[in-house]
Amino acid sequence: MNSNRIIDHPVLGSFEDRPIIRFTFDGKEYEGFQGETIAAALLANGVRTLRVHEESGSPRGIYCNIGHCFECRVTVNNQSNTRACMTEIKEHMRIESGKLQPAPLKSEAGSAHLPRTYAAFAEKHPTRKDGDLDV
Ligand code: FES
Repeated sequence: MNSNRIIDHPVLGSFEDRPIIRFTFDGKEYEGFQGETIAAALLANGVRTLRVHEESGSPRGIYCNIGHCFECRVTVNNQSNTRACMTEIKEHMRIESGKLQPAPLKSEAGSAHLPRTYAAFAEKHPTRKDGDLDV
């Protein structure tokens, strides 16, 4: 088994006697040890990018590793937004990375026609005055 792991830790013990778990990530098969999280098993297999930012496409991976930041979210057996750092791998688990999503404000013509600031919006809508409330 490919291993970037510490397989014999003075406090955590040895991994050698744990059962091997097989799972897939983006269709590719990997192996981990029973009791590992998805994040730990993927990192041990050399996978550092768990998803890409939905709008920019920049790579994301483990950040806090304690369940707070949600940077590690993946889709597990069709359940989206699963934290890889908090979820234990199971046999035949099917894990998918987070993908780039279509930007909601972009049309086929792009977003250049949308006002970027309130001042630009107010300039396009001259009857609207400061202090007017949306109802
Ligand atoms: S790395 Fe922060 S929630 Fe998983």
